Amino acid sequence: MIKKEAKDRIEKLKKEIRHHRYLYHVLNKQDISDAALDSLKNELFQLEQQYPVFVTADSPTQRVAGEPSEKFVKVKHEKRMLSLNDAFNEEDVQHWIDRLVRLDPEAKFDFFVETKIDGLAISLMYQDSVLVQAATRGNGKVGEDVTINIKTIHSVPLRLREHKLLKKQKYVEIRGEVYLPKKEFHRINAERKKRGEPTYMNPRNTAAGTLRQLDPALVAERKLQFFSYALPTDLGQHTHEEEHLLLQEFGFVTDPDARACTDLQAVFSFYKTIQKKRDSLDYDIDGIVVTVNDNALFDRFGVVGKAPRAAVALKFPAEQSTTIVEDIQIQIGRTGALTPVAHLKPVQIAGTTVARATLHNMDEIQRLGVKIGDTVIIEKAGDIIPDIVAVLPTLRTGKEKVFRMPKKCPVCHQPVLKKSGEVVTYCINEHCLARQREQFYHFVSKKGLDIDGLGPKSIDQLLDADLIVTPADLFSLTVEDLESLEGFADVSAKKLVEGIDAARKVDLSRLIFALGIRQVGEQTAIDLAEHFGSMEALRKASRKEIESLHAIGASVADSVLNYFADEARSEFLERLIHELHIQAPQKKTSTVFLGESYVFTGTLQSMTRDDARALVRANGGIVSSTVSRNLDFLVVGDKPGSKVAKAQKLGVTILSEEDFLKKLQ
Ligand code: IVH
Repeated sequence: MIKKEAKDRIEKLKKEIRHHRYLYHVLNKQDISDAALDSLKNELFQLEQQYPVFVTADSPTQRVAGEPSEKFVKVKHEKRMLSLNDAFNEEDVQHWIDRLVRLDPEAKFDFFVETKIDGLAISLMYQDSVLVQAATRGNGKVGEDVTINIKTIHSVPLRLREHKLLKKQKYVEIRGEVYLPKKEFHRINAERKKRGEPTYMNPRNTAAGTLRQLDPALVAERKLQFFSYALPTDLGQHTHEEEHLLLQEFGFVTDPDARACTDLQAVFSFYKTIQKKRDSLDYDIDGIVVTVNDNALFDRFGVVGKAPRAAVALKFPAEQSTTIVEDIQIQIGRTGALTPVAHLKPVQIAGTTVARATLHNMDEIQRLGVKIGDTVIIEKAGDIIPDIVAVLPTLRTGKEKVFRMPKKCPVCHQPVLKKSGEVVTYCINEHCLARQREQFYHFVSKKGLDIDGLGPKSIDQLLDADLIVTPADLFSLTVEDLESLEGFADVSAKKLVEGIDAARKVDLSRLIFALGIRQVGEQTAIDLAEHFGSMEALRKASRKEIESLHAIGASVADSVLNYFADEARSEFLERLIHELHIQAPQKKTSTVFLGESYVFTGTLQSMTRDDARALVRANGGIVSSTVSRNLDFLVVGDKPGSKVAKAQKLGVTILSEEDFLKKLQ
């Protein structure tokens, strides 16, 4: 980036960040996530570091966090409310502890770990065990008095439970986090939607907005909760662990997962456990807090800036980020579908580098209004390819380019076709090289013939060397053929030939799916295999017979008939049948799922999603890939995607993995 471009970008970023600040703080609205806004702030910070001449006093990077507002009475905190330094991975935590060891080589380290709740820090003051004041963190020194609002929260005791340590103690300060339970957040949003009011972005901001309500009756309607995590008043407690126990004895709720750890390995395993559990908790968390358990040692390490040395927040990776669309290119799928793919300036998101995002089709591009050169917000949910969720048009320079769907296939240069009423554009040339390549990838993929050691890269090599033309050719490849290719030593060539050989034995349904017939997914392939029982019978099937299958409509029947009617394919199919040992479908093991349809989302604990789908089929059920009104059950694992919200909206029954397994018993 040249200096002039950097200056323009800095100006635009400042403007955009200011705009979101205004929306959030003044209008109580939010239209991009905290993670996306952080990503913009981070880009601004990096650019300013690179070009310090462009740093201005009004830059959002120059702000002191959390200035108190004018609405509430100010409260000076007895002891400063600190924040925590962030760590993003195990290495950062190791560095943190290395520094402490350097400062105090004699020290013996024990840790206390707890979840980092994504809410608002609150300080509670008790006088003779009675709650007299509750204050927000504010800028750490001065906060706001929100006592009347905090008093609506049932998990905040208005009087501390009797305790011998409290007998002679006039003032006791308790700190913790106020949060809005996820269920409550969804309830509030559902009601707002019904009333036609704008919905809230996330539980934390809703909690913040709620606490700043001037009418406590409104606050009481929203069931806020409180977790306490610190007892700054010295009652003789020696460790952070003891502090948690005392807080419970005084009548507070503390993090039920919190515990002591004797070494960093235990800390990391806690982190992993919590990360897995994250979605099942009824409160948002954004990481864990690791504290040196010994309070005397903790105090001795002191404070640097705004954070104590002896504690650190180990954050979960952010799942949204901003980046730039450097290009939009067309990818051709095996069915000939032209899919626009955004090529992005690489960014780290949720722990991995992301350089591409699918844009699905032209309708999606128009819905987003995305142009080449745009700054966009991308999101990664679960393990899928990231999506572009929004464009930030304010950051445009004027040099952005509109993307247009090509009129010709970029690979075979034949005209493309978009049927009226359909969103997808297709290359209809059956012999298009791009399509054939994709057909090949699909044929050998996990759900197809699942040939060990044969991925897209080796397929490319084989095609480029003219060693194969159709998938049937795979079965006549020799070790010598493969050895001539780059990267294939004697051993790997032998292994691949063995892998191909092993794939000869194949279930009929798998083979039908592997052929890549348009609109024939796994379930349709199974239906066809079960009904026809052999390749020969399927090839000879009449329209009437195919359409008689209850789950198959006219358009799928068309696809199947067209596929087998193509003369150019018959030789390939003959050869393929000759090379393979096709297995007829097995009888079902039971009918417990008969007539029921299932979709799976998220990571399951006891099996893979593919295994679960096989289980449904083996027991007479039907597996689908999309959530619709007709679906019977959505089974939800860890880190589910957007399917859950859709199922809720359509009133589809949601099952946990446990519920699902119970049905089988
Ligand atoms: S200990 C010395 N424990 O995280 C700082 N903080 O950046 C004392 N938070 O403002 C914080 N859960 O609002 C601590 N279990 C937990 C927490 C927690 C959430 C928040 C708190 C604080 C911020 C630190």
